[in-house]
Amino acid sequence: MEMNKVMVIGAGQMGSGIAQVMAQAGLEVLLHDVKEDFVQSGMTKITKNLSRQVEKQKLDPKESEAILSRLRTTIDLGDANEVDIVIEAAVENMEIKKNIFARLDDITQEHTILATNTSSLPITEIAAETKKPERVIGMHFMNPVPVMKLVEVIRGLATSQEVFQAVFDLSKKLNKIPVEVNDFPGFVANRVLMPMINEAIYTVYEGVTSPEEVDQVMKLGMNHPMGPLTLADFIGLDTCLYIMETLQEGFGDDKYRPCPLLRKYVKAGWLGRKTGRGFYVYN
Ligand code: CAA
Repeated sequence: MEMNKVMVIGAGQMGSGIAQVMAQAGLEVLLHDVKEDFVQSGMTKITKNLSRQVEKQKLDPKESEAILSRLRTTIDLGDANEVDIVIEAAVENMEIKKNIFARLDDITQEHTILATNTSSLPITEIAAETKKPERVIGMHFMNPVPVMKLVEVIRGLATSQEVFQAVFDLSKKLNKIPVEVNDFPGFVANRVLMPMINEAIYTVYEGVTSPEEVDQVMKLGMNHPMGPLTLADFIGLDTCLYIMETLQEGFGDDKYRPCPLLRKYVKAGWLGRKTGRGFYVYN
């Protein structure tokens, strides 16, 4: 399968990172979001990331320009009719994703692969919104996308082998390491990571110790690059809560019950780095 043109839907933290690595790998990229401001903010993030690499002399300035020249922005989903693969990185909300995939099903060409960067929602259910579920697949990147090596490649129930292989090969072309995973709530990454983060929040909730101490234990004791509460703030506490709820609902098991303190912070609007406050305060 030829893979030359890609549309990335969602110009936030994940979408802009995905667009950047795609352009770095030589693909023509269309970065889409619903508002002009949003796509411009995504482009600013990419430009800053590349400039930092140039300053550190890890990237040639000409190469940086070439990468940027492969990126275009759009607020028209209809432009998805030009591309070989769409990667959806919109908000983690099933109704929004279903709506996007139903529209993409009508807009895109027959051969176009429809991938979602969902962190935990069922690929099979998203695929069921389309007339060709065999071309729908999960392509789950980790944050920060330009740095993290992993891509979870998730087969929906109907995903074809051809589509799976194309996405697996594309991940390698992006200089990532793909890992094949089947479609169960949270896949592997978040099924393992989120209960750990949730448990770390419980230790603070139950007064075992402070966020700083929890993070120190996991950094110094387990060699984690970030403690779980720093990481939770980095991912976004709303996303952490949503994933725990998806696990709890998907498995029907109380062991995935979100910590009440996590709920409280989300209700307060303390969502982590992006709002300036979570378990820590950011200026
Ligand atoms: N975007 C792009 N590049 C970034 C970046 C960002 N947001 N943050 C850091 N970097 C780059 C730096 O520029 C630097 O690059 P060079 O080596 O080329 O100079 C490199 O990463 C290392 O950065 P720093 O030296 O500043 O900091 P560090 O060594 O502490 O690394 C980190 C930062 C890579 C984020 C590290 O702390 C880490 O690995 N943290 C854990 C991240 C993690 O677990 N991610 C998964 C989250 S879960 C997820 O994404 C799944 C989900 O569905 C929720």
